[in-house]
Formats: sequence, C-alpha cells, structure tokens
Amino acid sequence: MQKIDGKLVSQAVRDELTMLVKTLTGKGLRAPHLAAVLVGHDGGSETYVAAKVKDCEEIGFGSTLKRFPSTIQEAELLGEIQRLNDDPEIDGIIVQLPLPKHISPEKVINTIDPAKDVDGFHPQSVGKMVGGLPTFISATPYGILMLLEYYKIETKGKHAVVIGRSNIVGTPVSILLSRNTYPGNCTVTLCHSATPNINELCLQADIVVAALGKPGFVTGDMVKEGAVVIDVGTTRVSDASKKSGFSLKGDVDFDSVAPKSSFITPVPGGVGPMTRAGLMKNTYLAYLGREEKALKAAGL
Ligand SMILES: NC(=O)c1ccc[n+]([C@@H]2O[C@H](COP(=O)([O-])OP(=O)(O)OC[C@H]3O[C@@H](n4cnc5c(N)ncnc54)[C@H](OP(=O)(O)O)[C@@H]3O)[C@@H](O)[C@H]2O)c1
Repeated sequence: MQKIDGKLVSQAVRDELTMLVKTLTGKGLRAPHLAAVLVGHDGGSETYVAAKVKDCEEIGFGSTLKRFPSTIQEAELLGEIQRLNDDPEIDGIIVQLPLPKHISPEKVINTIDPAKDVDGFHPQSVGKMVGGLPTFISATPYGILMLLEYYKIETKGKHAVVIGRSNIVGTPVSILLSRNTYPGNCTVTLCHSATPNINELCLQADIVVAALGKPGFVTGDMVKEGAVVIDVGTTRVSDASKKSGFSLKGDVDFDSVAPKSSFITPVPGGVGPMTRAGLMKNTYLAYLGREEKALKAAGL
C-alpha cells in the first residue's frame, strides 16, 4: 500500500507556479491575480478564503479579497462581480459558497466571465469539460487528476466507482475519468443515495472515489485487493482532543481499507491540499489565456 501524499504533490505544483511567476515578473510582466468574493461571516468560508489568499501570497500571485455583508442584495453583488470581470488586472474570480438564501448561486456563477471562471462552475466551463475541450476544471476534480498523474496510476480500462454525484465533485470526476485521455479511459459507475448495491459495485472497482460526506462509509469489506482509493470526504466531527474542537474525517475507513489498497489518500493531507493547488493552477491558466499577447511580446 502506498499512501498518496497530497501535501507533497500540492507543494510541487506550488513550487512550479512560484518559479513561473518569477519568470514572468523577471520579464517585467505582472503576476497572475485572483479575486475572492466572500459574503457574510460563515466560519468555514472564512477559513477557506483565508487559505486561498495565503496560497496566492506564497506563490507570488496578487490577490483581492472582496467582503460583503450577508445583507447585500443580489443585484448589488452581481454588479460587484461585473466590476471584477471588467478589471483588466484580475485573472480569476471565485465566489465562496454557500451564499445567503436570498442570493441565487446560479445567477452569481453565470455572471462570472467564463475567461475568469477559475472555479470551473460556469455552465460554459462545465459544457466544455463534458465536450473534452480545454477549459477550467473545477479544483477538486482537477486535484484528483493531478494525484493520479503524479503517482502514474494506470486508469485505462479500469473500472472506477465514484460515490456521490454533486456538481462540484462526483459528477465531474465521473466524466473526467471516462474521457478518452489520461488520466481517464475508465469504465465509470456513478453511485448516489438511490444506488441499491453500492457494496457489490465497490467490490468490482479498480478505483474508488468516495465523495459523499459520510465519515467512514467505505469499509475494508467493500474494497477489492489492490484497489486505488481516493477519499474526498471532509466532515467535521467533534474532537475534544483538538484545539479547534473538531477533526476532519474522510468517507473511507482508512484503517480497514488501507491494507487492501494499492494507493490511498489520507484525510487530511490527501485531496484537500490538491483542491487548493487546482485553484492556483487554474488562476495561472486564466492569466496565460488573458495575457497571450504580452507573453509573446516578452518571448515567453
Ligand atoms: N477535499 C476537498 O477539497 C473537498 C472538496 C469538496 C467537497 N469535499 C467533501 O466531499 C464530500 C462530498 O461533498 P459534495 O459537495 O460532493 O457533497 P454533496 O453535494 O452533499 O453530495 C453528496 C453526494 O453523495 C451522495 N450520497 C449521500 N449519502 C449517500 C449514501 N449513503 N450512499 C450513496 N451516496 C450518497 C448524494 O446522493 P444524492 O445525489 O442522491 O443526494 C450526493 O450525490 C463532503 O465531505 C465534502 O466536505 C471535499
């Protein structure tokens, strides 16, 4: 069994981006710039956004954090996003979800310029991803693909069972793994809460991706010998031994599954750090797309 080290791979991606930014700024070009929009004061959202801003700083990207009260009206928020769309210095825009109930997340996502949609949630990005065209792949699925690539995990002809069909994880992962490219070319089974025989299906899987948000759901008796197991789940469970009062639990029961697996991601330290790396990579790609002329002029 080999533990997949998401921290290590994420650091490798960030080191590469740091070098690339140095090359850009060394040629007198500006650095890529990410704008994050945060509405209200949800604890989890605050933490996630702070981590993204910190990642930008470490890599050398510019960042802008736009904070708004939870009482902001939808039209005003859409206007603020439009201003970020129109700002030539901003390459990527993310709006931290969830949003207050009176604001439509669909309208907000649809307002983001697809050229700056580094979360990959815009219908245009999703459509291109489904069609196998170059686009922004949302950060968590992108991070999972990077892990499979880094560890040179064979995917062609394999049976992948994905548990969970959310728009941000399960569904895109299932589409990406079924594409005619590496990492892909899998035969994919997508399971959800109405799937009656998950245990049986999992036992046939060469690759299991668990993204359902139920701690310890996948147990050793559900996994065949040598399977690759990717645990996306991150559920906060109370833990008095931690300063924060909680610890993060994955959807896989690591202790019983690890001995049977060939590769497995831990929680924390597996997919989580890769999600952050995926966003940073998308921001860099957005910059490349938007600054094509300047890059050519600088001989890059
Ligand atoms: N590591 C990261 O960076 C990262 C990023 C995103 C999410 N996550 C974590 O990943 C997990 C999933 O997130 P999400 O946003 O995709 O969740 P979500 O939107 O709540 O979707 C959960 C999915 O799991 C399915 N499901 C729920 N219970 C099930 C069961 N007993 N058997 C089979 N399927 C079941 C649901 O089925 P139905 O569609 O039928 O309801 C749904 O499709 C969460 O723990 C989340 O915190 C981690």
